[in-house]
Amino acid sequence: MTFNEHFNKIYGERWSRLREALAAEDTGKVLLKNPFGAGYQDYSLDEASLFPARALDVQPGELVADFCAAPGGKLLAMIFSVQGESRFLASDLSPGRVQRLKAILHDCLPPEVLTRVEVRKADAARFGQRLPGQLDRVLVDAPCSGERHLLHSAKELARWSVKGSKRLAIRQHSLLCSALDSVKPGGRVVYSTCSISPIENDDVIERLHESREGQFEVLKFAHEKGEATRFGWIILPDTAGCGPIYTAALLKTSR
Ligand SMILES: C[S@@+](CC[C@H](N)C(=O)[O-])C[C@H]1O[C@@H](n2cnc3c(N)ncnc32)[C@H](O)[C@@H]1O
Repeated sequence: MTFNEHFNKIYGERWSRLREALAAEDTGKVLLKNPFGAGYQDYSLDEASLFPARALDVQPGELVADFCAAPGGKLLAMIFSVQGESRFLASDLSPGRVQRLKAILHDCLPPEVLTRVEVRKADAARFGQRLPGQLDRVLVDAPCSGERHLLHSAKELARWSVKGSKRLAIRQHSLLCSALDSVKPGGRVVYSTCSISPIENDDVIERLHESREGQFEVLKFAHEKGEATRFGWIILPDTAGCGPIYTAALLKTSR
């Protein structure tokens, strides 16, 4: 099945408008104003990216992990907005992207804040075993098909397949299992992707329901832009003018 056939089946009449909005250049950008004063940089990101950071709802004094953190937009959104001294663990699997993340954090954060952010080049799928029940909140902004990006690259678009999307869903599920294992009971996990495919969004949460029955509840929430899905919320550029971003928030209920 081709890319167009697949998404036409999912979105029906809406697909041509959505495809056009996805292909548009540089829409939906906002400037995240730096609260640390002169000498520290602001950060530009898609407005919809603020939503998963907001859904994590970090509180002062908490230990928070951003599993897939580079280049760091959502991490900065969390650090800029939390009132008080939370600690952050920011990991990413890619050495090049970890270097980029570190450079951005140095440009945007004063030394006293940087000391509360530990950056690790690591496979976050292993944190569930390494840090069992130790974290208050985890953001899993997972690697995904990124259809907006695909539409800007004929070569990558030609490589797209449903099979590839399903392979990514397996990685996304294992990152989510790791997140669930690493938070304390009562802790929160936010799952987000910039994919428009239910395979990488609601279906991943459905699979988690099957593999981790009784260990979590889905938290209901809404945003001024976007629309509800079975388990979360999606912000799509044809109606919202920013995104795409899918977000689901989970409350860990037991070990
Ligand atoms: C969608 S991007 C993250 C964007 C980032 N959260 C932000 O707001 O700037 C996904 C990231 O996940 C990283 N990644 C992929 N698999 C991973 C894994 N198993 N553990 C940690 N990071 C991973 C990729 O290198 C990539 O940087």
